[in-house]
Amino acid sequence: MQEEILNLKNQAMAQIMSVNDASELEEIRIDLLGRNGKLTNLVKKIKEVDPEERAQVGNTLNEAKRTIETLLAQQKNNLKESAREWFDPTIPGILPKVGHLHPVTQAIREITNVFTGIGFRRVRYPEVEWDYFAFESLNMPEGHPARDEWETFFVDVPENKKYGKVVLTPHTSNGQVREMLRLKNPPIRMINIAKCYRRQSDVSHVPMFHQFEGLVIDKNISIVNLKGTLDYFARSFFGENRKTRLRPFHFQFTEPSFEIDISCGFCGGAGCRLCKAGWLELGGAGIVHPNVLKAGKIDPKIYSGFAFGWGVERSFMMKSGLSIPDVRLIYSTDLRFLSQF
Ligand code: FA5
Repeated sequence: MQEEILNLKNQAMAQIMSVNDASELEEIRIDLLGRNGKLTNLVKKIKEVDPEERAQVGNTLNEAKRTIETLLAQQKNNLKESAREWFDPTIPGILPKVGHLHPVTQAIREITNVFTGIGFRRVRYPEVEWDYFAFESLNMPEGHPARDEWETFFVDVPENKKYGKVVLTPHTSNGQVREMLRLKNPPIRMINIAKCYRRQSDVSHVPMFHQFEGLVIDKNISIVNLKGTLDYFARSFFGENRKTRLRPFHFQFTEPSFEIDISCGFCGGAGCRLCKAGWLELGGAGIVHPNVLKAGKIDPKIYSGFAFGWGVERSFMMKSGLSIPDVRLIYSTDLRFLSQF
């Protein structure tokens, strides 16, 4: 029996060492140590051994069992390790997703570069603002019907005696008088880019959007300077072939006032389903009203200026080659849309 045990042990050890699969190893374990396993059966047979030899056979059996159990455990561990460490360098890697700036942020940076390149200075003014800077100082006294156009959100806090109610600024024109008061003396060349809020939502309106507001004040500033600046912006931002035109309009804070149109990048000005007879509407502009200069403590007899205010989202949508049917898509979190830009 002694010899039988040792043979079984050696055979088992060789088998265990050559296994390279966990289920095969489990089969070997059952074959040796299971209820009807080879080693288990030898243990059962110990009763048949002569009593004088029984102790020694028992020791050999115990030792064989311990050795086999230890080896099984070791090999199980080895198989786990090697499964973990196995690495196939020929499998193509998974590219990590790389994000990019939101198209509105990209447009704001581009607009800033165009204007700072010709001497404008980017400024920021409050987006939660006093009625005075959003309306009153812009020649729109309390109760003036022109205010309705701005569909303003009012903040439910106590009024200020001098500046009135608190509003979410509906346009970047709030920066005009603030900039005049800050600099005190012209020349002024500001570009104010900020969030604006209006109670509007449809294919061409969102409740929160961005405007960029230009303001230039100096001696002898005229419509010619305004038109030159607009054309320069159109060529730099939209492309060399794009042109602008001024259409008479009315704003309380500019006189004369214009709506600015830009030639359609889709049809090249011939007229198509995206534009009105070859032109797309960009935003408002005009020559700063004398009452606004006075509110900014600037003498309208000495100085004059022009101002313009356009939507960032709308300008972005009007870039050549883009045909975005709904401005609200820009603020959706749909990566299939956003990752195009
Ligand atoms: C104004 O807000 C004037 N402050 C512009 C101005 C400035 C005129 C300086 C003269 C001198 P208007 O309400 O038209 O004007 O808005 C200008 C542009 O803002 C629009 O042409 C449009 O591009 C954008 N805009 C207005 N409301 C929304 C909105 N709800 N969603 C997205 N863009 C908007």
